[in-house]
Amino acid sequence: MKDNLMLFEKRFKSHHDSSGIINRYISSEKIGKEDFEKVLELQPDKRKKAIYVHTPYCDKICSFCNLNRKQIDGSLDSYAEYIASEFEKYGKTRYFQESTFDVIFFGGGTPTVYKPQQLELILKSIKENVKLSDNYEFTFETTLHNLNEEKLKVMMEYGVNRLSVGIQTFSERGRVFYNRTYGKEEVKKRLKNLKDFFKGDVCIDIIYNFPDQTIEEVIEDARIVKELGLSSTSFYSLMVHEGSKLSKDIEAERVKLEEDMKKDYILYQHFMDEMLRENKYHVLELTKIAKNDGDNYQYIKVRNTGGDTFPIGVGAGGSVQGVGVYRMGKDMAFYSKQSEYHLKFGKLSGIMQFPIIYKEDIKNILTEEEYKHFSKKMKEYEEKDLVVEKEKSFDLTKDGIFWGNNLSIDIIEYILDKVFNK
Ligand SMILES: C[S@@+](CC[C@H](N)C(=O)[O-])C[C@H]1O[C@@H](n2cnc3c(N)ncnc32)[C@H](O)[C@@H]1O
Ligand code: SF4
Repeated sequence: MKDNLMLFEKRFKSHHDSSGIINRYISSEKIGKEDFEKVLELQPDKRKKAIYVHTPYCDKICSFCNLNRKQIDGSLDSYAEYIASEFEKYGKTRYFQESTFDVIFFGGGTPTVYKPQQLELILKSIKENVKLSDNYEFTFETTLHNLNEEKLKVMMEYGVNRLSVGIQTFSERGRVFYNRTYGKEEVKKRLKNLKDFFKGDVCIDIIYNFPDQTIEEVIEDARIVKELGLSSTSFYSLMVHEGSKLSKDIEAERVKLEEDMKKDYILYQHFMDEMLRENKYHVLELTKIAKNDGDNYQYIKVRNTGGDTFPIGVGAGGSVQGVGVYRMGKDMAFYSKQSEYHLKFGKLSGIMQFPIIYKEDIKNILTEEEYKHFSKKMKEYEEKDLVVEKEKSFDLTKDGIFWGNNLSIDIIEYILDKVFNK
């Protein structure tokens, strides 16, 4: 496999890396707030529906993070009231009245920084204004140090059934590097207690490839996930964002890109092998490994297969009935009408986040000619041992999963180029 090590100049580590490409070929049409409001008064179509709620606050900032968040400076009373009032406002629209939602996802930042009463205010408003499907998924992202039984009780009472806990690593050295609270034993104890107390899926996030991380450390992270029987784990390679404090601090460590990529690849292999060893866990999407009877992660399925994601809260983005929405402030948002190509290639990129790519799904979104280009690329990947063609699908190999985001970007660029530069 060594040949696959430097297959691309740079490894794309996240789904977000692909979003800019389509805009290079075709821009989406800006529309006004009134246009969006009109769409909300039409009969909603049948596509699956999720709601994403953003809380752009944390009580402690991690060294590696450049997400849309800031340190809390005061009470979150007014932000909690704002979120609750947004649900009241949109709850009156035809879109909300006539839709059944499959997923609610509270992301951040850290959405468990609210006090129990603030949580209750928000969740009560959701209960009054949102109709959920029978097997809905309701997630809160969280960190261990600001979670307690009182908050968990409120969350469970209002139907939260999935927690996504940012752990990042169990390694003592790694935890110091990432600026995370508690050492290994305390984290394990708290996760175990959480699993006993919370009725629902307990999922975690792991980041690997911090400076000097050893193979033993990454294997130990995988073992603890299995030992605790966690429903799933994300597995992100550390992204060092240009210009960040972290990028200056560890510049010296990243001797050569090739060195870094090699370590990235080796740690990835060891983590995957350890997680999949007893066949109790499987790859759910490019950066997530789930227990076989565990996490279903409907949120990503709805989002990546062309469903609606209704965004609520400052910093939230989504797509509603073909309208892109990004909220920059309490009273400020960008709206855009997504072109046929945005929808099509957005879906293609979404489908390529999963390790099994069904031919039928691709044929449903691409024209015959576009599908020919797609197949040609897949053949190329097969020759490089990144993909195995089956009767009904193209299955990514372990290397294919490692390079998954690159493949999705590569194939979208290839097809767009054929379509637009004939
Ligand atoms: C909103 S946070 C999750 C919840 C919570 N705020 C926490 O950190 O505990 C989303 C996840 O993105 C991942 N992430 C953030 N910055 C990253 C980076 N620079 N490189 C890799 N993964 C990153 C982390 O695993 C993090 O848990
Ligand atoms: S990783 Fe999570 S807790 Fe840390 S700063 Fe980012 S959003 Fe906040």
